[in-house]
Amino acid sequence: MKKFFVLLVACVLAGCKSVPPPTPLADLNAQQMRGHAVYQTHCASCHYDRKDATLHGPALIGMYKKPYLPSGAPANDERVTATIVHGRNLMPAQGDRLDPQDLDDLLAYLHTL
Ligand code: HEC
Repeated sequence: MKKFFVLLVACVLAGCKSVPPPTPLADLNAQQMRGHAVYQTHCASCHYDRKDATLHGPALIGMYKKPYLPSGAPANDERVTATIVHGRNLMPAQGDRLDPQDLDDLLAYLHTL
């Protein structure tokens, strides 16, 4: 019991960093599935989506479940879209490779992580 409270206090102090796990692939709806395909083509070579580890860029797991992106920018569609379309430091711009529908589907998928 005592251990539980120590853990609870530690969690509160640390801002309860753990977030719920991503939606299983089998439970994605049609748009999220299309977004997963876009992710595989355009993002998977540099980012893990279901593993909390850095590849070329930071892991995207839980990205919308935390208030901030790794850079400290707010984790919202506006900032994420700007990052994808214009790139960021070592991340190349993807704007000319994704049409608006791809982008919409991709964001829908990223929200399931
Ligand atoms: C060639 C490798 C590469 C590809 C492809 C790539 N990224 Fe990135 N990404 C990076 C790197 C490197 C960073 C870290 C940039 C920085 O903040 O210095 C990053 C950062 C990010 C961030 C965090 C931005 C922030 O403000 O902290 C998000 C979100 C992101 N990428 C999403 C995506 C998505 C979605 C795709 C697919 C459309 C994608 N990336 C494709 C390399 C890549």
